[in-house]
Amino acid sequence: MRKITVVGAGNVGASCALGLAQKELAREVILVDVVEGIPQGKGLDQWESAPIEGFDSRVRGTNDYGPAAGSELFVVTAGIARKPGMSRDDLVRTNVEIVKAVSQQIKQHAPDSTIIMVSNPLDVMCWVAKEVTGFPRERVIGMAGVLDTARYRSFLAEALDVSVEDIQAMVLGGHGDTMVPLVSYTTVSGIPVTQLMDRKKLDEIVDRTRNGGAEIVNYLKTGSAYYAPAAAAVQMAEAVARDKKRVLPCSAWLNGEYGLKGLFLGVPCKLGAGGLEKILEVELTSKEQVALHKSADAVRQTMATVTL
Ligand code: NAI
Ligand code: 2OP
Repeated sequence: MRKITVVGAGNVGASCALGLAQKELAREVILVDVVEGIPQGKGLDQWESAPIEGFDSRVRGTNDYGPAAGSELFVVTAGIARKPGMSRDDLVRTNVEIVKAVSQQIKQHAPDSTIIMVSNPLDVMCWVAKEVTGFPRERVIGMAGVLDTARYRSFLAEALDVSVEDIQAMVLGGHGDTMVPLVSYTTVSGIPVTQLMDRKKLDEIVDRTRNGGAEIVNYLKTGSAYYAPAAAAVQMAEAVARDKKRVLPCSAWLNGEYGLKGLFLGVPCKLGAGGLEKILEVELTSKEQVALHKSADAVRQTMATVTL
C-alpha cells in the first residue's frame, strides 16, 4: 500500500504503527493524535529505528489529517483505555464522541479507505464508524477476535506444552465477558482439543480467555493491554494490504448471518484487498449458538445507550 494511517498515538496505536512499518505494509505510516508533540515524537523515534531494523516505511506523526489524506487503510485506536474496575462499556460515553470525530475526518480525507477499528467498546465503536462514514460493511472491520483467540491459543499452548503455532481456534461474539470461544473448533494440529485436555482444565482456560483483558489491566493498573492488541491489528492490516485472504475472527456488520442482523459481532471473516470479503457461516453447537445470541444482546444493550 502507499499509505496507512494509525489514529491514536497511545500504547496500542504507537505499537501498531511500528509493527506496520517493520512489516513494510505501506510506503508511509502516518500517526495522528490530538496531543501536540506525541505523534511527532513517537513517529520520528520509530523512523530513526528504520536503519537498524531495515525497513523503508516512512513513519510520520501529526496532529492534523492533511498528511493522512488518501490513506488506503486506517487503524483507529483513539480513545481512553480501561483502568482497574472499569468495564469496556464504561468507556462508551467518551469514546463515542472521539470515534465520531475521527470517523468524520476519515470520511473527509480518505473516502475510499478501509477502517480497522480497535477503540472500545469495540463492536459498538465499529457501528459508530460505519454510521458516521457511511462506508459499506466491507470497509469497516473490528479487531477483537484475533486478540481474544491469541490469548486462548497462548493459554492452551502453555497448558499442553506445545507450540502456539499448532493451536487452531476461534473466539467469536462481542469483545466482552460474553465472548464465545469455540471449543468445538479448537484443535492441536487437527486433533480435537477435548482429546488432549480434560473438560475442567479447558473450562478454566475458556474463563481465563474471557477475562484476558481484565487480567492485564489488573497488573498494569494505569491502562490496558497493548502488545498483543497491536500485533492483532497489524495481522488484520497485513491481510488487507497484502490481499492474503486470511480467515480470521473479526467484528463485522451482520445482515442475517448466524440469525443476527443490524449489529457488529465477532464472526469468521475472510480479509483481503476488498476488506471484509466474506463472512463464513459455520455450524455451531446449540450451546455456542445460544452463547453467540447472548453476546449479541450485550452488544445491543450498549448500542441502545448511544445517540448518534
Ligand atoms: P492510550 O490512552 O494509550 O492511547 C489513546 C490515545 O488516543 C491517546 O494518545 C489519546 O491522546 C488519543 N486520542 C484521544 N482522542 C483522540 C482523537 N480525537 N483523535 C486522535 N487521537 C485521540 O490507550 P490505548 O491503550 O492505546 O487504547 C486505545 C483504545 O483501544 C482504548 O479504547 C482501548 O480500550 C482499546 N483497546 C481495544 C482492544 C481490542 O481488542 N479491541 C485491545 C486494547 C485496547
Ligand atoms: C483488552 O482486551 C482492553 O479490550 C482490551 O485487552
